[in-house]
Amino acid sequence: MAAKQKQAQKRARQLAGELHRHDALYYQLDSPEISDAEYDGLRRELNRLESEFPGLLGDDSPNQRVGSAPASGFDTFPHRSPMLSLDNAMDVDELRAFEQRVYRFLGQTFDSQRKIQYIGEPKLDGSGVELIYQNGKLQRGLTRGDGQTGEDVTANLNPVRSVPERLRSSGAPIPPVASIRGEIVLPRAQFAELNRARIARDQDPFANPRNAAAGALRQIHDIDFNRLRSLEFRAYALAEGAPSGTATQWSVLETLASWGFIVSPESRPCQGLDEAIALHRTLLEGRNAMPVEIDGTVIKIDSIDLQNRLGAVARAPRWAIAFKFPPEQASTLLEGIEVQVGRTGALTPVAKLAPVQVGGVTVSNTSLHNQDEIERKDVRVGDTVIIQRAGDVIPQLVRVVLDERIKGAQAGRKFPRYKLPAKCPVCRAATLRLVGESVTRCPNLDCPAQLKNNLKHLAHRGALDVDGLGEKLVDQLVESEMVKRLSDLFALEVDQVESLERMGKKSADNLIAALERSKSTTLARFLIALGIRHVGETIAEILSQHFEELEPLMAASIDEIEAIEGVGPTIAESVFRFLADTANRQEIERLQSLGVQWPASRAVETGEEEQPLTGLHFVLTGSLSAPRDHFKERIERAGGKIVGSVSKKTDYLVAGEKAGSKLEKAQKLNISVLDETGLEKLIQGEPPPTA
Ligand code: IVH
Repeated sequence: MAAKQKQAQKRARQLAGELHRHDALYYQLDSPEISDAEYDGLRRELNRLESEFPGLLGDDSPNQRVGSAPASGFDTFPHRSPMLSLDNAMDVDELRAFEQRVYRFLGQTFDSQRKIQYIGEPKLDGSGVELIYQNGKLQRGLTRGDGQTGEDVTANLNPVRSVPERLRSSGAPIPPVASIRGEIVLPRAQFAELNRARIARDQDPFANPRNAAAGALRQIHDIDFNRLRSLEFRAYALAEGAPSGTATQWSVLETLASWGFIVSPESRPCQGLDEAIALHRTLLEGRNAMPVEIDGTVIKIDSIDLQNRLGAVARAPRWAIAFKFPPEQASTLLEGIEVQVGRTGALTPVAKLAPVQVGGVTVSNTSLHNQDEIERKDVRVGDTVIIQRAGDVIPQLVRVVLDERIKGAQAGRKFPRYKLPAKCPVCRAATLRLVGESVTRCPNLDCPAQLKNNLKHLAHRGALDVDGLGEKLVDQLVESEMVKRLSDLFALEVDQVESLERMGKKSADNLIAALERSKSTTLARFLIALGIRHVGETIAEILSQHFEELEPLMAASIDEIEAIEGVGPTIAESVFRFLADTANRQEIERLQSLGVQWPASRAVETGEEEQPLTGLHFVLTGSLSAPRDHFKERIERAGGKIVGSVSKKTDYLVAGEKAGSKLEKAQKLNISVLDETGLEKLIQGEPPPTA
């Protein structure tokens, strides 16, 4: 193999691994580590390599999967027509340039003295969706995906009240097929509520309502119906099915409203660009008072005739533009840099700021991420810095105001360069940074900071849920050296705990009782409690469903772990390494010997005879006569298991109407396909029907 190709192959493998990991972080853990732009960059690099060296397109390439949702377990369908995106204008000049392009394109056919009639609409910061109605009945809801093909999220849209099951018949005439486009958003109040609940459960809060909405829509496991019910669908386009004679975007919005959809009430006709700019300013001023987040104004040419004449270039129409709001910024003083030590020993520098208001919230700290980031921005204590919130809850330090540093230096003030400490601020161990890594770490596994964070993690509600074991108590237990490793927690005795400061007999009894209760857990919760990197609720659930017991997981090879649907190479490596480590194995053994336990797999636990579906793996697809959860429950009660996507290990595909790619795959792999009646028979213990 030519050296160049070898190198490309190595890089492609690396990229595929990275993309898998980021997919898992984004889609399964809802906690992306990199921005969308950075993700797109990795993806583009892989695309380039794969098109240059076609032989590289391996089975595990993220590019083998359709849409933007690898490993998601949703069926995919082509859109009725492509779901376009919008070009952006960042300022008035760019907006005027857009109008000039329109005039130029229309040329002589349009009187350039005439003002163009626009419709200005809020640019909703959510997740684009296509709803297809057949004879007025909701047939399918698709995510935007890659614009050509989307994922079938109909089941998850059912609980959303503003997605009508039927178009209102008293409205505009109902066409045989209507393709309605709009945005799924999570209103501010519900977003705040969701994040409060997540923080209370010790889960990371969502960065913004957009991520939270997209995450809610794409839930596969343990669907949270309350989260779905809090979503809102706002309609803004009709790609197919407009009543004949529809001449304007305004009448499209009227049609949508007449069918029962929510149409943004802030939308306005604007006579000429100046009126559109005025609307943009009004929306900008009022954005924080709106119930949903918006990040600009979409300005669309009202006349459908003009829209048709203008058409589209590549991914965006020529007749509309997104006029974006500038990010909200403020300047303040960087008073200091504090270093926090995380659960994995990572040192995170945190900027301590003179409190400042940005976009409606007071900001007094913000993460500086790592040493490279500090150097890239040349951030020094004493600097005046610009803080920004761009749609995200988490503020960023954008840059240093250098003029202010120069002035300060002239006045004799010092601005020393900042270096992360060479010693861990908590245990004084020498910190280290591995070649190729951006993170500086404290390598001491017994570092009290790591232990404290690990204990808090173990005690949180999603893990062993130890009632009353909060931050202060954890600090006391570690500082008094009563707890030197996780398992020490379960060896604590009442008198010991009672001897802690501000601790009475009753509180000590309560803690010991809570610890006793938390010993009975599930395998998934136990895996979360161990604090393995990248193992959150979803991955723990996947592992526990796959292995059923701890022993086979501890005996599994990296390849076996990685072969599980939804587990990427980084996660597999992290799990494998953790479980291979002698100290960790001893900890696991000690935790179990101190009484931490969970029910064995279903068959062993109940001691019952085999159930009709024991050992069988099912995939559901297409539209079924009841919500998927109904079938999931029926199958699981009969001892079967639901998996997200079709593979050689699948025993049956239960297919409803309009089954798509999964049905094709099942047929290719010769997997038995059942309809609902067939499934029912199987559950009743009758011989498997042949379909
Ligand atoms: S119209 C052909 N109207 O913004 C026109 N899009 O950045 C397609 N969006 O993909 C879209 N608010 O998901 C339109 N009032 C609005 C919108 C809107 C938000 C989203 C949409 C689109 C994205 C482009």
